[in-house]
Amino acid sequence: MKITVLHSKDALDPPFDPLLDQLDAALAENGHTSRRLAADDAVEPMIAALRDFQPDLVFNLAESFRGKSSLESNVAALLNLLDLRYTGSSPAGLILAGDKTLTKKVLAFHGIQSAKFATMYRGQSDWVGDIDFPLLVKPPQEDASLGITQKSVVNDVKELLDVISSTQQEYQSPVLVEEFIDGREFYVGVIGNSKVEALPLIELDFSKFPVGLPKIASWEAKWGDDGDEKGAQFEGTQAIFPTNLSDELTEKIQRAAIDSFQALRLRDYARIDIRVTPEEEIYVIEANPNCYLERHSEFARAAQKGGLEYNALIARIAELASARYSR
Ligand SMILES: Nc1ncnc2c1ncn2[C@@H]1O[C@H](COP(=O)(O)OP(=O)(O)O)[C@@H](O)[C@H]1O
Ligand SMILES: [Mg+2]
Repeated sequence: MKITVLHSKDALDPPFDPLLDQLDAALAENGHTSRRLAADDAVEPMIAALRDFQPDLVFNLAESFRGKSSLESNVAALLNLLDLRYTGSSPAGLILAGDKTLTKKVLAFHGIQSAKFATMYRGQSDWVGDIDFPLLVKPPQEDASLGITQKSVVNDVKELLDVISSTQQEYQSPVLVEEFIDGREFYVGVIGNSKVEALPLIELDFSKFPVGLPKIASWEAKWGDDGDEKGAQFEGTQAIFPTNLSDELTEKIQRAAIDSFQALRLRDYARIDIRVTPEEEIYVIEANPNCYLERHSEFARAAQKGGLEYNALIARIAELASARYSR
């Protein structure tokens, strides 16, 4: 097939980010021809490039437009209008999963548990559940732990009001206040459409996390502090394959991930982030329909653990997408 690899303009920069090179190689090995295209600041050149190449499939990695992650679903919507076939979720799925508050509301309807919450905007509450401290405050439409730092975990009303106000200021959007789920954190890759499968679990191991800090995959834990030293939170988190987890609990977590994938109308692939308390209560934290697909990402590592090598994984996603259109 002729495949356009559509990516965000700013996100991916080869020596730092090998994803695009890896994708090209994987697609080539499977007999496809690929061409890269940045979902740029202007829509016309993007349309022109797509019309010129006439791809059989777009590998849609675009997670933002004009630097705004809230415009992610519009890129997929444009592909629909251009009558192009593309990998990953439709605008509906991207919207449901892209707004953490909406995600929680849909999951609740389907009986899938997520942390109790409240949503607020400029002093007005949209919904206030029966919530208890500690709480975690986050912008509902960001990713990559943007806006989530150690300060986001609050223990009293004063801290809560301070963080609500600074989060609102910075993101100019409502804030999501969730009960803090103290427990283990798992990332569950899900792949498929009519037959949906969960990949082996990856756990974010906090055992080396700085003592006394709430264990969260904060901005600092994901990307490191400013400066050369990556910092204690980054060094203290490691994605591992859990060994001390019963088959029964593993299956329950995978079931929750698959149910979430279907409830949120996701397609082809996604990664669901989940927390599990010591009492084995399962809470879905969020769904990532456009999760990172680099060879060492949680998703690709989990696929490999499940027997799907990297190049085969990329080809499989392309096949899953194409198959949807030929039904
Ligand atoms: N309700 C919660 N309880 C405990 N930790 C949470 C909760 N929500 C988020 N976190 C922590 O914050 C991290 C980032 O939150 P998440 O909602 O996944 O945002 P992002 O989209 O930026 O990844 C999670 O991986 C988890 O470690
Ligand atoms: Mg997350």
